[in-house]
Amino acid sequence: MHAHYPKLFEPGRIGSMSLKNRILMPPMDGGYGGADGSVTQRMIDYYVERAKGGVALIILQIVCVDSPQGKAGPNQISLDSDKFIGGMARLAEAIQDNGAKVVAQLHHAGRQTAKEWTDGWQPVAPSPVPCPFLKTQPRELTYDEIQKIIEKFIQAAVRLKKAGYDGVHLHGGHGYLISQFYSRISNKRNDGYGGDFERRMRFPTEIIQGIRAACGPDFPIMIRFNAAEFIEGGVTQEEGIEIAKALERAGADALCTSSGIYGTMTRQLETMAFAEGWRVYLAEAVRKAVNVPVSTVGVIRTPELAEQILEKGQADFVEIGRGLISDPEWPKKAFEGRYKDIRKCFTCNYCIGDRVFSQLWMSCAQNPEVGHEAEWAIIKPAENKKKVMIVGAGAAGMEAGRVAALRGHEVTIFEKENEVAPQIKLAAKPPTKDKVNFVWEWLENELKKLANVRLELGKEVTADTVKAFKPDVLIIATGARPVLPDLPGIHGSNVLTYQDLLAGETSIKGENVIVVGGGTIGCETALYLSALGKNVAVLEMLDDILMDMEPIHRFDMMTVRLPEAKVRWKTNATVIEFNEEGVKYLDKFNRKYSQKADSIVVCMGSRPRNELAQIGAFAPEVYVIGDAKRARKIAQAKHDGAFVGRLI
Ligand SMILES: Cc1cc2nc3c(=O)[nH]c(=O)nc-3n(C[C@H](O)[C@H](O)[C@H](O)COP(=O)(O)O)c2cc1C
Repeated sequence: MHAHYPKLFEPGRIGSMSLKNRILMPPMDGGYGGADGSVTQRMIDYYVERAKGGVALIILQIVCVDSPQGKAGPNQISLDSDKFIGGMARLAEAIQDNGAKVVAQLHHAGRQTAKEWTDGWQPVAPSPVPCPFLKTQPRELTYDEIQKIIEKFIQAAVRLKKAGYDGVHLHGGHGYLISQFYSRISNKRNDGYGGDFERRMRFPTEIIQGIRAACGPDFPIMIRFNAAEFIEGGVTQEEGIEIAKALERAGADALCTSSGIYGTMTRQLETMAFAEGWRVYLAEAVRKAVNVPVSTVGVIRTPELAEQILEKGQADFVEIGRGLISDPEWPKKAFEGRYKDIRKCFTCNYCIGDRVFSQLWMSCAQNPEVGHEAEWAIIKPAENKKKVMIVGAGAAGMEAGRVAALRGHEVTIFEKENEVAPQIKLAAKPPTKDKVNFVWEWLENELKKLANVRLELGKEVTADTVKAFKPDVLIIATGARPVLPDLPGIHGSNVLTYQDLLAGETSIKGENVIVVGGGTIGCETALYLSALGKNVAVLEMLDDILMDMEPIHRFDMMTVRLPEAKVRWKTNATVIEFNEEGVKYLDKFNRKYSQKADSIVVCMGSRPRNELAQIGAFAPEVYVIGDAKRARKIAQAKHDGAFVGRLI
């Protein structure tokens, strides 16, 4: 029995499949598939790292059973033809060689896709009801077409078995085709596949029964389903329990409880605003109603929480998704009691919202190695050990220092403040953003373990400091500062920057506040002000607000968080003057308006703070990284640090 986490490291079983612990990696498509639907070496490398990290079972990402019509994205892998068996087999073998079991998630997108991804084919669905999120208009499937798709699921499962998989997993949730059949919101049929509950369950039932008949009793069948959809007319929690029971009756060996459809995106891909483990109650209710193993998913970030869930009997397995992107060794570190070493996901959704949704290969703001496993997972010792001076202990500087030190360089990091990561700490101040602190907490913890890293806090570096220090390598990671455009009145006593405000350096006067700039920083600052009880209006010069925000967070902000906080916003409003009364701005027709406020907070972007580079602080090798190079997100700052740390 494991001393810290006896339940988490207790062996488990799904059908005939024995599992070494209770940790599952849920399906996550990182966009690493080939354009033709094949497995790639990048994908294999990514999964191998997770297998090595100690997870019991990897549930591979969505695998298309009916390409191109059923595809949900351009790089989705397929298994609708025997030609894919070879690649899928190699992937399974690589995962199994490294100690994990593997199943794959068979999938058909139904209406939740777009013509660009289906090679121009009109998406299909049980009924011609458009997707509320993508607005795609699907075509109703005929009875014969339904039979063909069921057969495609079955044939794909047969191919998985041939390819050596430990079982099959079905995507029966998140508003894709299987769940479109059982959810009243998308199934308006009145034939054998729609109408009452039993007929709405017929599609998944026949898929499960068909796979059982074709693959035999010993091939485990798992299914992810929606225990609630959180949308008017969709699956309620009560129905979710009935669905679970029906799936068990059909022959499923394990039920993976999930929730949400594209129209309720944050209920399947939470933003930072969601509490850890908020969805566990769904699995708990399902587990009481069925006899097969049940798993739970959603913002389970710590082994403590995972252990508690199992201990309380709320689920038989825990799924750690983004947590395993961020740290593939999550299970191993938990097993070894190295809790603080876990590089915890802070739920920024950069992986999916900024990357996969934009057809970019997945990467991770916490873990720059993601997608670069072959080149970066193993840190190679440097041939020539160098004296490295890093200026700035933010995300970029600390990551560069960590990697450089692991390679054997002698590293000193200078920070002008008396603490590490002052900018990240400010970014964590607005409501619900506290998880951003995971970024510096992990880096600081790692740096403390490295004997060849020295942190010099409260030391501002000038060209003279560099000359005196005589580094072989100078890395300038001095971050960014707020842009203060040269506008009348900008230095008035009622005007302050977001930095001053969040750092608590200036108290804010009066009740009515205007935030100038409606990007991420502006709108988060508006929430911060609203939480202080202020009456807040945002003025944005572009056509819309939050254009730089990760799309799932943006959706949440625009539909829930800003309205709830009663923050108002105006777009196409270009501020031209600050004065004692408030501001003057122009609309898109150059008409001039005034708006009154007691205080004005400037959030008009950031610009690199890189004077050191400009004065040519001398060293044989000089690099400018992170926001000091160009003000961007934490992900790019960490990437720069990871890259330069390996370059020198
Ligand atoms: C990059 C990414 C890709 C995902 N792809 C899939 C997928 O292919 N199939 C699926 O059922 N869920 C997918 N999900 C959802 C996850 O399986 C999981 O349910 C979700 O991330 C919540 O769990 P977590 O908080 O542990 O990450 C994806 C999530 C991410 C972050």
